[in-house]
Amino acid sequence: MTKLKELLAKKIEEHRPRTQSLLKNHAGKKVGEVTIGQVIGGARGIRSLVTDVSYLDAAEGIRFRDKTIPETFACLPKVPGSDYPYVEGFWHFLLTGEPPTKDQTLEVVDDWKSRSQVPQYVYDVLRAMPRDTHPMTMFSAAILSMQRESVFAQRYREGVKKDQYWDSMYEDSCNILAKLPTVGAYIYRMKFKGDAPIAPDPKLDWAGNFAHMMGIGKPYDDVSRMYFILHSDHESGNVSAHTVHLVASALSDPYYALSAGINGLAGPLHGLANEEVLRWIQKFMAGLGGKEPTEGVIREALLETLKTGVIPGYGHAVLRKTDPRYMAQREFCLKNLPDYPMFKVVSQIFNVAPKVLMEQGKAKNPWPNVDAQSGVIQWYYGVTEYSFYTVLFGIGRAIGTLANITWDRALGYAIERPKSLTTSMLEEYAEKGKSDKLADD
Ligand code: MLT
Repeated sequence: MTKLKELLAKKIEEHRPRTQSLLKNHAGKKVGEVTIGQVIGGARGIRSLVTDVSYLDAAEGIRFRDKTIPETFACLPKVPGSDYPYVEGFWHFLLTGEPPTKDQTLEVVDDWKSRSQVPQYVYDVLRAMPRDTHPMTMFSAAILSMQRESVFAQRYREGVKKDQYWDSMYEDSCNILAKLPTVGAYIYRMKFKGDAPIAPDPKLDWAGNFAHMMGIGKPYDDVSRMYFILHSDHESGNVSAHTVHLVASALSDPYYALSAGINGLAGPLHGLANEEVLRWIQKFMAGLGGKEPTEGVIREALLETLKTGVIPGYGHAVLRKTDPRYMAQREFCLKNLPDYPMFKVVSQIFNVAPKVLMEQGKAKNPWPNVDAQSGVIQWYYGVTEYSFYTVLFGIGRAIGTLANITWDRALGYAIERPKSLTTSMLEEYAEKGKSDKLADD
């Protein structure tokens, strides 16, 4: 057993009594109220999920295991010669809440390498799909095709005890994660680079190997490390994380659950937004007709955009301040591509758009989110095929969601089964305010 798995087992044993005590002694206590607006409006803000892997504060942004993004980057061992940490160490940190030592990190690096061989039939499945299939469809299908490998499904059939479910969830999660860079890069090279896949380099770390298999030199390895960590988790209520949790709650194994979550991420209101932002920025830049992007020019162009639509990449369901994931990427740009014209336009939009949106009363949150910056970096390093951007998001999102469902099974979280009401019932609530009685029906 790896040291990480031993430590995780210890953490699980320590944590279980907390969940059990909450259920046994406090199950009836309220954590909030539910309004008709929330019932119809996508369950927005309803506190009905639990995770310790990350927490999203509306004003501050995401914390991974209670650490901000800069604290997270600072506490993890760095890849030699790189500015960013090993993603493998981040996995250790997300699972256990403890920043790993260099040795603990390298153990995960080796463990994932030993699990990284992608079965030939996955390539066959990908190659059998029409070449114009969306990369997210290919990515999801590749993950689902490997479901036959599930250790969880096999041990479940063999009657493993409930308190041991987490063990095989962990095994499946590591087996999946180890293969995702190869699967993602294969899709990219098959679809967009003349069907010329690049073999993995066993000397490299997980994200460094991804950059290598994409065929892109330094510092794209650091871009990958940063990108995968930033996109890994955003607490449990977003569509991809929630879907993975929901599907796994039926004791579907991690292959089923992650593939389903990737399908949710493929929606334009979720992960596909980064593709839309880049498309819009390019159109926006073309519209500037070569004019210097001064504040005045950008302001006029944004007002024109708002006549018919929204500013892509601005606003968020939970956040009410600039997304710290945006800031982390901006910092990277300021260091590595400060004079890149597209970055300059994005920066100028950042200076102007919040004011314009506030003046127009257009958004509860007029600040940029993670998507407003990410495509620019990819484009700069030569990944100009927008439709691939969400796969990058998906590789990152796998890390957080798989850590979460490993813990879900460790703590025995129940199958999700919220209650629905009819429109007439809601109308009855609205008229008579009979909130308490019907809610318990
Ligand atoms: C995410 O990272 O999942 C997005 O920012 C969406 C969200 O948190 O609702």
